[in-house]
Amino acid sequence: MAGFAQFEERVRRKLRELEEAGLRRTLNPPSGIDFSSNDYLGLAQHPRLKERMAEAILKEGCGSTASRLLRGERRSLSAVERRFAEFKEMESSLYFGSGYAANLGVLSTFLDRHDLVFSDAQNHASIVDGVRLSRAKRIKFRHCDVDDLARHLRVASDGRQRFLVTESLFSMDGDFAPLADYAELCRETGTILVVDEAHAVGIYGHRGSGFVEETGVRDQVFISVDTAGKAMGVSGAFVSGPRWAIDYLIQRARPFMYSTAPMPAVAAALDASLSVIADEPERRQRVRYLSGLLREMLRDRDIPAGRSQSQIIPIVFGDNVRASAASTELQREGFDVRAIRPPVVPQGTARLRVSVNAQLDEATLERFAAAVQRCAGVGSVVV
Ligand SMILES: Cc1ncc(COP(=O)(O)O)c(C=O)c1O
Repeated sequence: MAGFAQFEERVRRKLRELEEAGLRRTLNPPSGIDFSSNDYLGLAQHPRLKERMAEAILKEGCGSTASRLLRGERRSLSAVERRFAEFKEMESSLYFGSGYAANLGVLSTFLDRHDLVFSDAQNHASIVDGVRLSRAKRIKFRHCDVDDLARHLRVASDGRQRFLVTESLFSMDGDFAPLADYAELCRETGTILVVDEAHAVGIYGHRGSGFVEETGVRDQVFISVDTAGKAMGVSGAFVSGPRWAIDYLIQRARPFMYSTAPMPAVAAALDASLSVIADEPERRQRVRYLSGLLREMLRDRDIPAGRSQSQIIPIVFGDNVRASAASTELQREGFDVRAIRPPVVPQGTARLRVSVNAQLDEATLERFAAAVQRCAGVGSVVV
């Protein structure tokens, strides 16, 4: 008969299986020089953000006390949403407590079981889960492959509304989606384009508003999801789009409706973050420069950096245990770089996910590249 003891044994067996496959995770706080966070611009520790947030806490307290549809609403939050919408050159924006919640909210609210959604094979779990929740029919196309997508789009849609959802900068491979080609295909086929700018906002585009700005496809994008916990240095995410769409999210997006509003002080930090992005363009220029430099240093040492074109640089080992061992070794040498294993990345592609931030310098990159060469046992690095 099934009971608690059997259930406990079931879970313990799964933990043992993870251990044996080299897939058991542990929680480890930062230690060593940051080569793994998403704080690409170094804003999480920026004095202007800290001061604004601290002042706001003293004035407005800690918790927001309710959802935004009830007593949790604050003028400061709707003001920063308006500012973010201007930044993205969209009509309107809505803040969600996390990027995960934002993708769940957007996809489960706008898509339904009658729709067809074309989703890049490497899209983030929050996109995959949002699509699942929507019950739309999902068609997975090959990663960043315009021809494969076009082939799928040519098949009759039986009158279904079609959506294309993609990250603009992929979180684990560091490569960019061919957004200009996608925009063109979407225009030709009446497909609605949703772009997740989680890793691009703050860095790409002349004003730093993201890769949509950089590629000039804003007019063809229906919704942009921009996380605020990565380059923006705070937390949460903005969803931006036409006013009617944002209004509908307020009515229907369950992760927005059924969740307590963020701490009011978050709005102050977000506002400061947007100011710093406007006032200190040298931060994003530096990230791009240092990323190119590190990719070059790795290339010079015959360490392949996959398809990376950005501040996210994967060093693929394939084997889970080897990737973990390399990360442990690098941490011992004082570099905080983490191993990423399945299911976060496809089976057989366990890797070090190296990320570059504006606080680093050339000498540190040089020392890091040399350490990677020593720790990786480079012969076993693949792709
Ligand atoms: C592409 C992408 N979308 C969404 C998210 C989720 O954002 P958040 O961490 O704010 O929940 C992430 C986070 O890693 C991401 O990489």
